[in-house]
Amino acid sequence: MHIFILTGAGISAESGLGTFRDAGTGLWARFDPMKLATPEAFQQRPAEVQAFYNWRRQNLLTASPNPAHLALARFGDALYRRSGRLTLVTQNIDDLHERAGSGDVLHMHGELLKARCLDCHAVTAWREDIATHSRCAACGHIGALRPHVVWFGETPLYLDLIAEWLPTADLFLAIGTSGAVYPAAGFVATARRHGVPTCEINLDPADNASLFDQAFYGPASDAVPAWCERILARLDASRAP
Ligand code: OAD
Repeated sequence: MHIFILTGAGISAESGLGTFRDAGTGLWARFDPMKLATPEAFQQRPAEVQAFYNWRRQNLLTASPNPAHLALARFGDALYRRSGRLTLVTQNIDDLHERAGSGDVLHMHGELLKARCLDCHAVTAWREDIATHSRCAACGHIGALRPHVVWFGETPLYLDLIAEWLPTADLFLAIGTSGAVYPAAGFVATARRHGVPTCEINLDPADNASLFDQAFYGPASDAVPAWCERILARLDASRAP
């Protein structure tokens, strides 16, 4: 069985990282994404944009994976032991899936703990603030580093692998994403077109909730471990002699 999971900010909400669109508390309710998350903003106000991502990077370093991240890591291993496969795609730029133990996570919106050099294009691990005097570890250029994240107007990463693997899945699950940002918001429609059953776990119904065959509403830390157990129990029952 091949299960394709897409995660969004909701899975990291209980780790204290906050979401983008939750009323009042969401990052984009407090900050204007056009001023902080576009290539134009970076060109016009690099220090302001770097400060925003430096702040988010420092927050991330104090956060820990929650039971939803841990359940998905165990689920991936359990599926593998049953000759199955988990594709884990996240819109999140945090590393909480990896710290929980998940391998091969596709970060379609990039990774906060990496920096990219605008000169040599090398991507390097980065845990400190990025400053105007930061030096690229690969080419030595000073002042050419940016966060390795995808901004509005830029193309998300791994779209070729996603286009190849999503139609081959036996089940598509979206966790903690509002279905407001494409192309990720379109994955459920792609799955349906290819006859892949679809399921949503969310606190509130996503914008595209009507496209899901099944939905479980509740905090990810409860709903995700419960979902994983149900799927494994169903798999084991179908394999019982
Ligand atoms: P959103 O903030 O748009 O949506 C978060 C979703 O998580 C909502 O549906 C919430 O109901 C749900 N949620 C909140 N707390 C939850 C909890 N404890 N358990 C389960 N669900 C919970 O975040 P995304 O959909 O991830 O892109 O946003 C997609 C993209 O928009 C982000 O990757 C980012 C943003 O602009 C870029 O920065 C390019």
